[in-house]
Amino acid sequence: MPDAYILGIESSCDETAAAVVRSGEQLISNVVASQIATHQPYGGVVPELASREHLRAIVPVVRQALEQAHHTYDSIDAIAVTQGPGLAGALLVGISYAKALAYALDKPLIAVNHLEGHIHAVLLDLYQNKERQKGSPELQFPVLALVVSGGHTHLYLAARNGPSWTYENIGHTRDDAAGEAFDKVAKLLGLGYPGGPVIDRLAPYGDARAVNFPPAQIKHPDRRGRNDGKALGSEDAGPRFDFSYSGIKTAILRYVEAHQMRASVESRLRVLTEIAKPKLEDYLAHCDKVTLDLVASFQRAIVEDLVGRTLAAARAYDVATLFVTGGVAANQELRQTFEREAAKEGLPVYFPSRPLSTDNAAMIAAAAYPKFLLKNFAAMDFSAEANLILR
Ligand code: KG4
Ligand code: ZN
Repeated sequence: MPDAYILGIESSCDETAAAVVRSGEQLISNVVASQIATHQPYGGVVPELASREHLRAIVPVVRQALEQAHHTYDSIDAIAVTQGPGLAGALLVGISYAKALAYALDKPLIAVNHLEGHIHAVLLDLYQNKERQKGSPELQFPVLALVVSGGHTHLYLAARNGPSWTYENIGHTRDDAAGEAFDKVAKLLGLGYPGGPVIDRLAPYGDARAVNFPPAQIKHPDRRGRNDGKALGSEDAGPRFDFSYSGIKTAILRYVEAHQMRASVESRLRVLTEIAKPKLEDYLAHCDKVTLDLVASFQRAIVEDLVGRTLAAARAYDVATLFVTGGVAANQELRQTFEREAAKEGLPVYFPSRPLSTDNAAMIAAAAYPKFLLKNFAAMDFSAEANLILR
């Protein structure tokens, strides 16, 4: 198969990213400009600000990715960009710039689904490790991929036919994404934004059995669930494994009220806001035992739910391999629990390295390679799709 150096561009949410990847398997450069500082005061991503920051960052970030790769605009073979899902205004910045580059340089343009990118982040790391270790086992299909991030909690069955990949959605969140729950709970407890990394680091200091959260109840069949247009209940609709995380967030809100924690939450927020980059010791110094126990119990509940549902789906669909990817896949306890529980079932489970778990453009460039081989190029008039479906 011909080699191709693909420049990837990603701007779907709050990171402006560019990367060069060779043939979907070798990371040559990977630049991510985070907007965390911009959104931190608001405790979440502000779409207008995100677009403005992308506009500021896009040109230098792409230039840096090319420089670090020792490439020029002329020496790359194609330009790949995230089409969706994501914030429309944010996506448009990356798309407009990618189109301009492709037009000016007369290079092929490839539109990539952000969720497919997260799945290919696992493959990119698998190839790189294979290169390092020589002779890792071949990937066994079907693959079940859990994509779990700030905006998404999806289960996809992934299949490969030659270079072409197809996906079937067999589960998604009915309300909040798992990462969104981490972020909202951290905000409720005065721990800042984004919540996932802070909760990840604090959870080992609390008692995960201290607070019991009932498992998420999903009562009604989901009519929007399938992404192939087939109604639920049609003959070939397999079982679904949906998630729900808004209940646990409300339970934590009630817990905070019932245990009169408001005042301590506000004073923690005030102190932590004044520290430019709070360290673990800063968080620990301002968290009492009740808060640490709550954080640990929350994380355990989310992890058990994600792992339990994913393994139930793996059994139902008799899959051979598990992928776990997206920002929340960086979580320590999630990784350990998946590894332990999947091993009991003899199921290999793969994660991207931590830098490739959260949003980046290397995953976009990697996911574009099969499309490059198939000459599946985007027309110049394609646009952002905030709710783009993966299939
Ligand atoms: O994939 P990502 O960078 O962006 C989206 O596509 O949403 O994911 C960001 C999400 C945020 O909600 C963040 O809190 C969560 O991933 N996250 C984590 C960890 N690192 C990031 N959640 C739990 N544990 C972590 N270590
Ligand atoms: Zn993402």
